[in-house]
Amino acid sequence: MTTRNSSKTVEIHIKRRANLDSSQYWEEFEIPYRPNLNVISCLMEIRKNPVTKSGKQTTPPVWNMNCLEQVCGICTMIINGRVRQSCSALIDSLDQPIKLEPMSKFPNVRDLVVDRSQMFDHLKRVHAWVELDGTYDLGPGPRMDNDDVQERAVVVLKLARSTRAITTSVHKRLPRYVSLIYIQAAP
Ligand code: FES
Repeated sequence: MTTRNSSKTVEIHIKRRANLDSSQYWEEFEIPYRPNLNVISCLMEIRKNPVTKSGKQTTPPVWNMNCLEQVCGICTMIINGRVRQSCSALIDSLDQPIKLEPMSKFPNVRDLVVDRSQMFDHLKRVHAWVELDGTYDLGPGPRMDNDDVQERAVVVLKLARSTRAITTSVHKRLPRYVSLIYIQAAP
């Protein structure tokens, strides 16, 4: 087994599957080493020229990716036996050959892609998220009678008149930053 950083190539073994009905198989690839490569950049390199280590032309590997900043989780796969996000898995920190497999707890659709709809269905069933206010149309608000509307308008007007912007420089421990704090002050 080649260990990390010992060669100027990166050897990657990918567990592949053509479709849901076919069986899995391994393919081995070797690409030139560059500093700061991560698993996704290696997969992209292989996709550009899908030829195995033994010189056999093959189909480009398929995987999921989205944010590329370790936020969305869509790129998660098993890397050297550990479930990890491939966009943040740096080649320099991995032993070679690097083995990539799809997650095993979800149905494997193709190559490194899994079907997570079961998980999302469960999340939907229990409404497992917090609604964000104001980022989308929340529909009409509660109806208010005219007196209420006028009363609130007066309060808003008074607040607007009495609002003062107070500029404060803060945080002596972070001298490079100046924060501006605007405080709505009562009259
Ligand atoms: S692409 Fe979003 S976490 Fe990797």
